[in-house]
Amino acid sequence: MLLAHLLSLRGIESVVVEQRSREYVLARIRAGVVEQGSADLLRASGLGQRMDGEGFLHDGTALSNNRRPFRIDFHELTGKRVMIYGQTEVQRDLYDIGDSRGLAVIHEAQDVAIHDIETTHPSVTFEHQGEPVTIDADFVAGCDGFHGVSRHMLPARVKREYERVYPFGWLGVLSATPPISHELIYARHTDGFALCSYRTPMLSRYYVQCSSDDTTDAWTDQRFWDTLRSRLPEESADTLVTGPSIEKLVTPLRSYVAEPMRHGRLFLAGDAAHIVPPTGAKGLNLAFSDVYYLASAFERYYGEHDDLGLDGYSEQALRRVWKAVRFSWWMTSMMHTFPDGPGDETGFNTRVQEAELDYLASSVAAQTAMSENYVGLPY
Ligand code: DHB
Repeated sequence: MLLAHLLSLRGIESVVVEQRSREYVLARIRAGVVEQGSADLLRASGLGQRMDGEGFLHDGTALSNNRRPFRIDFHELTGKRVMIYGQTEVQRDLYDIGDSRGLAVIHEAQDVAIHDIETTHPSVTFEHQGEPVTIDADFVAGCDGFHGVSRHMLPARVKREYERVYPFGWLGVLSATPPISHELIYARHTDGFALCSYRTPMLSRYYVQCSSDDTTDAWTDQRFWDTLRSRLPEESADTLVTGPSIEKLVTPLRSYVAEPMRHGRLFLAGDAAHIVPPTGAKGLNLAFSDVYYLASAFERYYGEHDDLGLDGYSEQALRRVWKAVRFSWWMTSMMHTFPDGPGDETGFNTRVQEAELDYLASSVAAQTAMSENYVGLPY
């Protein structure tokens, strides 16, 4: 949707083909941290008004190691901040601006297939309201997520895949309660990770590390709140306001990158090409930088008849993707409890993890490096 909007601002026509209904898309709960560069991109594209009114600017975050908290001040260290504003709200703003500008969005498209990407006349076919539809295009942008069809169009001879699956998941809960603190709390605990976030002053978003094969049935609200409380710094835990969960979901954690992000006339963007674990909330922000590069490349192609932007897209996007993959992997590795694996019978990894957090708590250089990545590398 953001790519379609950026293209429309540049006078380039597109059609968005979405498998789900609009209601479904707008009910999905996703992460809520918008990097400064992403917030600036939204503002520059006419999408900043509600975000600036209803979102929350954060100067820093709390980290905690076995219930001992410390603060990292992003703004002091980098001059930048992040915006706490739910991805679902960004999506709503995109629909609103799309409606007002007459963006073509087709919902509930079934059996989507992409054709002829190695030619100059690719197309997308699907079934819509029982009728077959074909869209002929100059290019296809595969923005259809990890489970979409686009990535599978990369021929085996060119596709390279990189993956790490983490041996745990996150249980996420949304509750109509006031948040525990204004800033987020990322908490490492020997029993497992916990994260405190929120959407509004009366809507909290919390996560605890769980087993990757856990189901939500195993997690009563009571068990969730007790687990969360036990992993947080005591002074925060004492102020935790609990209530019934509105949403409860287990998310697996993985890092994944498919290369290249372009084949012929197909360009991959966002989760269609890469997945990061949620720690650090980079998923949406990476999709933003991908589509920003892509929109600029199309502008150059249509405006100046110059292929260089399109030819350089994959390499340009992947350079930033891999840095966010590294940062999300690093935060995940530092903050979670890993089961003892082969080679770690002596607890070596846990001691290194403690040293990493101790270093981060005491070094301005380490805090600056983390802040620079957290607020978002430039694009
Ligand atoms: C949220 C999710 C994250 O993965 C994160 O690192 C911070 C915040 C959220 O849902 O608010």
